[in-house]
Amino acid sequence: MKIFHTLARSLLVGAAFGGSKGIVAAFATPSNNQPKITKTSHADVTSTPICSYFELQIPTTMEGPPSQRISVEDLTPTIKSILMDSGMKNGSVNVISRHTTTALTINERESRLAQDMEKYFLELAPPDERSSADTAQEGTRYFHNDIDKRPDSAEEAQRCRENGWDIDDPDELQKWRDQEPINAHSHLLSMLLGSSETIPVVDGTLVIGQWQSILMVDLDGPRTRTVGIQLIGYK
Ligand SMILES: *[C@@H]1O[C@H](CO)[C@@H](O)[C@H](O)[C@H]1NC(C)=O
Repeated sequence: MKIFHTLARSLLVGAAFGGSKGIVAAFATPSNNQPKITKTSHADVTSTPICSYFELQIPTTMEGPPSQRISVEDLTPTIKSILMDSGMKNGSVNVISRHTTTALTINERESRLAQDMEKYFLELAPPDERSSADTAQEGTRYFHNDIDKRPDSAEEAQRCRENGWDIDDPDELQKWRDQEPINAHSHLLSMLLGSSETIPVVDGTLVIGQWQSILMVDLDGPRTRTVGIQLIGYK
């Protein structure tokens, strides 16, 4: 009887954790094969602290209003040159893409992969049927793109006024609505990819893998974009 209870309970526990289908996520490193830790850098007592902020303007190469164009910009060479000029030896570089429709990611810089990214992202979050993008998908609609219902609250109306739009004037309100891009899918993809990265610096070198690059992804181009770069560490 007792054995039966134990068995029943373990089956229940198994089922609760997805065990009924035999799905058990395996750890890549078994407990008898621990990762090897090597300490390669430390701040010297005589080092000089550094904390510097830089802003990068990335001009657009295309004309016209934002039309949900996807493009990728490799920031690695610029970040490396800022790091070299700063003289920072050990620490970290924080990079932030300062927009709600751009993203930062660390991955391979390769033009055919960039095409795959665009195709994959647009399948994941297709543009609204009301978007001017070539890839607008019939039947796809997002709340954010119901521009005629925005601003949606007194607080949001106030934010429009603070940004210089006199939306109490019907003509100005229409002007504001006309310039709002149909870009909810760009926002959603930006949330999925994330907007910042932190990269360690050891002995004056960015610690990234051989095939890794720091990429800014514009999800609603063309626009001029701004990236913030902060170095924190020791010279
Ligand atoms: C950076 O780390 C290296 C390796 O540990 C160390 O020799 C060097 O003194 C450090 N430099 C600074 C400026 O902290």
